[in-house]
Amino acid sequence: SETVSRDADGVVTAGGLDVKTLAERHGTPAYILDEADFRARARSWRGAFGSDADVFYAGKAFLSRAIVRWLHEEGLNLDVCSGGELATAISAGMPADRIAFHGNNKSTEEIRRAVEAGVGRIVLDSFQEIVRVAHIAQELGTRQRVQIRITVGVEAHTHEFIATAHEDQKFGIPLAGGQAAEAVRRALRLDGLEVIGIHSHIGSQIFDMSGFEVAAHRVVGLLKDIRDEHGVELPEIDLGGGLGIAYTSDDDPREPHEIAKALTEIVTRECEAAKLRTPRISVEPGRAIVGPTAFTLYEVGTIKPLDNLRTYVSVDGGMSDNIRTALYDAEYSVALVSRTSDAAPMLARVVGKHCESGDIVVKDAFLPADLAPGDLIAVPATGAYCRSMASNYNHVLRPPVVAVHDGESRVIVRRETEEDLLRLDVG
Ligand code: LLP
Repeated sequence: SETVSRDADGVVTAGGLDVKTLAERHGTPAYILDEADFRARARSWRGAFGSDADVFYAGKAFLSRAIVRWLHEEGLNLDVCSGGELATAISAGMPADRIAFHGNNKSTEEIRRAVEAGVGRIVLDSFQEIVRVAHIAQELGTRQRVQIRITVGVEAHTHEFIATAHEDQKFGIPLAGGQAAEAVRRALRLDGLEVIGIHSHIGSQIFDMSGFEVAAHRVVGLLKDIRDEHGVELPEIDLGGGLGIAYTSDDDPREPHEIAKALTEIVTRECEAAKLRTPRISVEPGRAIVGPTAFTLYEVGTIKPLDNLRTYVSVDGGMSDNIRTALYDAEYSVALVSRTSDAAPMLARVVGKHCESGDIVVKDAFLPADLAPGDLIAVPATGAYCRSMASNYNHVLRPPVVAVHDGESRVIVRRETEEDLLRLDVG
């Protein structure tokens, strides 16, 4: 992240604090999150899209009350996808009208809470949900603003498990076969709903803008069909999240202003061609805002060299704090951060302390051959989908998230304790 550097002794500092101090104060493993970097990224997304568009931070990437407050202060909106995320958002003071509620299987209870809270939009994900939300809104004597999530048949260039707009999957209503048009037809008829737009999310960790262009083209095509059939021009479109970040030096992410320019241009052009008023655009970046702002600080434990293979370097966490390597074959880098070393590089695999051999944090990495137990190593770009996907596997305690800023550190999510674990255990 932006304020990370090495001091004269080779010790890495983040937000003005060196990692040895951070490890002493907060223990390891810990996610160290650079608040200034988070705010700068949020602000640059906000600024890139300007006042004609909205940026909804995707809370699934990482959410806490501090994060909600920072987003609020920086002028971003928030996308939540569960009752838990909604509760976090509201308890930290995000105005409900700046919240979008997502999910393919929202419960009646969750929908009721969202409508009662007055969320700015609910993103409808199925035919059943159209009826369900309309019914609940009517019961509560209100009209709920909704978008309809469609799948446009674009398969983004990314790992199959996280590509979400091809049609053989659980999210959204397919554009194909006139299903999306039928969903709009039904939603427009229901008094409990105010249909404000169409939503499309095509996947995650995407670098190639062409997927978004095809998606925007098809979404605008649907807006045109809706205008032709119903005489209404829906005022909003949301193009989802999914913008990639650099996990390793091979990745070359696009800047928010480039993304904003590309998306705005294509939507404007397509709308002009279709003689439609240009709708208000919104986007939902999660990873691109929070991903690069944190690294995981681990202490090195057992080191096991395997002849002619590689050296297994065990750390004090693992798949419970970063499941992405095991789950998606995600690639990460790693560095020794508590000192310098002139030793030759050795081929290493950074593994956790869990009871399975798939418990890998970094599959292939070079670390100095004089690496020793007690050294601190850091895995960058773990701000997104690491703490939020963390587990208690093997009753390992989930690490804290420590925000660093101007030489100060503040715990924004505390480390789990054994008491926390035992509290849930009844009997
Ligand atoms: N909007 C919607 C409707 C989404 O489903 C998602 C992510 C986002 C926005 C935010 O996408 P982002 O900008 O963060 O890529 N656990 C996986 C990623 C799952 C993403 C699911 N949806 C991972 O660790 O790569």
